[in-house]
Amino acid sequence: MTSKVLVSGAQPSGELHLGNYLGALRNWTEMQANYDSLFFIVDQHAITIRQNPAELRRRTLTCAAQYIACGLDPQKCSIFIQSHVIGHAELAWVLGCMTPLGQLQRMTQFKDKQQKSENVDAGLLFYPVLMAADILLYNTELVPVGEDQKQHLELARDLAIRFNSTYSETFNVPEPYILKSGGRIMSLQTPTAKMSKSDSNALGTLYLFEEPESLQKKFRSAVTDSETEIRSAVNKPGISNLLAILSAATGKSIEALEKDYAGSSYSVFKNSVAEAVIEMLRPLRKRYTELMDDKTYLQTILQQGAENAQKRAYKMLSKVYRKTGFLERM
Ligand code: AMP
Ligand code: TRP
Repeated sequence: MTSKVLVSGAQPSGELHLGNYLGALRNWTEMQANYDSLFFIVDQHAITIRQNPAELRRRTLTCAAQYIACGLDPQKCSIFIQSHVIGHAELAWVLGCMTPLGQLQRMTQFKDKQQKSENVDAGLLFYPVLMAADILLYNTELVPVGEDQKQHLELARDLAIRFNSTYSETFNVPEPYILKSGGRIMSLQTPTAKMSKSDSNALGTLYLFEEPESLQKKFRSAVTDSETEIRSAVNKPGISNLLAILSAATGKSIEALEKDYAGSSYSVFKNSVAEAVIEMLRPLRKRYTELMDDKTYLQTILQQGAENAQKRAYKMLSKVYRKTGFLERM
C-alpha cells in the first residue's frame, strides 16, 4: 500500500444500480488495497433533494451493506457515513466562501436537476462545494468516479489551488480517476441517457440486488434498433450499451464480442447479456443477504470507519481554521 489517499462516495438516494457498480464500485474494490482508501455514503448530499427521514435512514444502512457486498473490505479501507464525521459540512462552509457563484450555476448537474425539480433549495447549488470538502478534508490524491462527476472534481481542484495560494500550501490537488470501460452505463429504455435511479421508466435501470428474473425481464425489453447487426456504433446506442455491459461483465473486448455474436439475433444476444450480468452479481447477492442479517457487524464497521476518518478530519479542519484566521478554541 502506498500512502496516497484515495476517497470516493455515493449517495444513499436509492439502491445501487449497474452504472454505480461498473462505473464506480468495482473500480473502488480493485483499488482499495493499493491506497490509503476511504469510502463514504454521502447522506448530507442526499438531502439536497427532499427525503423521507425513515427511508433515508434505512437506505443509508442498506447502502453500507451493498458497498461491502460489492467487495469493499473493511480490513483494507475505511467505510463510513458522511454525517458521522464532523468536518465535511464545516470545511464546505469555508470553501463555499471562496467559490464564485457563477461557477456553481454553470454546473451541468445543477442545471439538469434544477430543470427537473419544482423547488430548488440552495443546497442543490452548494452540493459541489460539499463534495470538494469531502475530498480535500483527507489530503486526497485520487478520486475514482464516473465521468458525470468530472466537473465537480474540477471545482475541488480549483478550490484546493485557490486556498493554497491564498493561505499557503494546505491541500493536495486531487486527481480524477475515470475508468473508461463501464465509465458510462446507459438506461436500457433510453440508451442515450445514463442509467440512473431517477429514470422515469423503471425498466431502464438494473439494480444490483434485484431478483434475477426481474433483471432478465429488463434485458428482454431493452430498447435496441430496427437493424439486425450486433455492433457498437453511435447510431446504435441500445446495442452499444448492451455490448459495453457484456464487455464489462465478461472482461472481453467489444471487438471480440462483435465477432462472437455476428449473425446472432438480438433476443439471443440480450439473453447472453442477462446471463452474464446475473452470474457476475450472484456472489454479491449472497454476501448482501448475510450482511443484512447481521446489523451489529455492520454498525461496528461503520463506527470504526467513522472514528478513523474523524481523527483525520479534525486535524485538517484545525489547520484550515487556523489559516483562515479563526481564533483558536481554548
Ligand atoms: P450516484 O448514484 O449518482 O451517487 O453515483 C455514484 C457513483 O456511480 C459516481 O461515481 C457516478 O459517477 C457513478 N455512476 C452513476 N451512474 C452511472 C452510470 N450510469 N454509468 C457509470 N457510472 C455511473
Ligand atoms: N457527488 C457524487 C455522486 O453523486 C458523490 C460524492 C459526494 C463523491 N462526495 C464525493 C464522490 C467525494 C467522490 C468524492 O456520485
